[in-house]
Amino acid sequence: MNKITVSAPGKLMLLGEHAVVYNRPCLVTAVGQRMYATIESLVEPVFELEATDVKVTGYKKPLAQLGEGEIFKGAMFVGIAVKNFTKKYAIRGGVRITTKSEFSSLFGFGSSSASTVCVIKGLAELTNTKLNNKEIFDLAYKTVLEIQGKGSGFDVAAAIFGGTIYFVIGGKVIEPITTESLPLVVGYSGIKADTVTMINQVAQKFADSPKKAEKILNAIAQLVNQAKQALIAKDWESLGKYMDMNQDYLRDMGVSTEKLETLIFAAKKAGAWGAKLSGAGGGDCMIAITPEDKVENVKQAINQAGGKVIDVTINVEGVRIEK
Ligand code: PMV
Repeated sequence: MNKITVSAPGKLMLLGEHAVVYNRPCLVTAVGQRMYATIESLVEPVFELEATDVKVTGYKKPLAQLGEGEIFKGAMFVGIAVKNFTKKYAIRGGVRITTKSEFSSLFGFGSSSASTVCVIKGLAELTNTKLNNKEIFDLAYKTVLEIQGKGSGFDVAAAIFGGTIYFVIGGKVIEPITTESLPLVVGYSGIKADTVTMINQVAQKFADSPKKAEKILNAIAQLVNQAKQALIAKDWESLGKYMDMNQDYLRDMGVSTEKLETLIFAAKKAGAWGAKLSGAGGGDCMIAITPEDKVENVKQAINQAGGKVIDVTINVEGVRIEK
């Protein structure tokens, strides 16, 4: 075998963003939109990348020089993933990687992590290296940290394991939660947020008032644990209430925006049980937990408020070999 295609799902944070960076748990769900990576062996020891979704075409670099000097932003995660894999497990020759995403990298669905996971899984298969999911997690998380410097790895876990997960930083806990359904409406704010900027902003705020920070973090952790029970019990109304409360803390932390607040308010007014931002904040998406008979109203309200509804399915498979 000298060519393989692997796919991994995107994700949405349900509750616990930011707090998860401070060793509190979070809840994340994988979504039906997937990232695909085709990996081909090459005789020449080079790294080639075609990632048209992020405007990378014809990128080529000697394998031995990966990670050295400037690396084009769009090629970064895939390139460093290849570097880390080849450093740990020898490969013969080089690789050509082609990525294709079913979702925009602007949504905050975790395209970088999903592509990192695809590359590591694909290289393992191609080179007959037996890696279990935790080993894939560790290498993918190391890659993300090497580039971003910060982050919990929740998006890496969602890409690998799929489904809905109760997660603690670094994969200390990765607990799947059985949820066949989750009445979720997603609205994109139209603004791309930068995760690291938002993490730094929160860190600054927490450093200014550490006592208050502790209180907020513990309160969010409690909400996440309550929400986990609500998820298991399919008690959507309570889940909505916990999301609302989580949003209050996120607002207090300064990561919500006027646009997100407008969309959240619109969703609630149209009958959602609860709504909040999802992910780092500063833009990206909001989510609303919504009674079945109100879904259309909520979607309409989000669109009318200037958001863009994104249909997602949940309970999806994690990383997998396509062909
Ligand atoms: O917007 P995203 O998908 O990068 O989510 C960030 C969530 C944080 O908790 C702020 C960071 C993290 O890695 O957990």
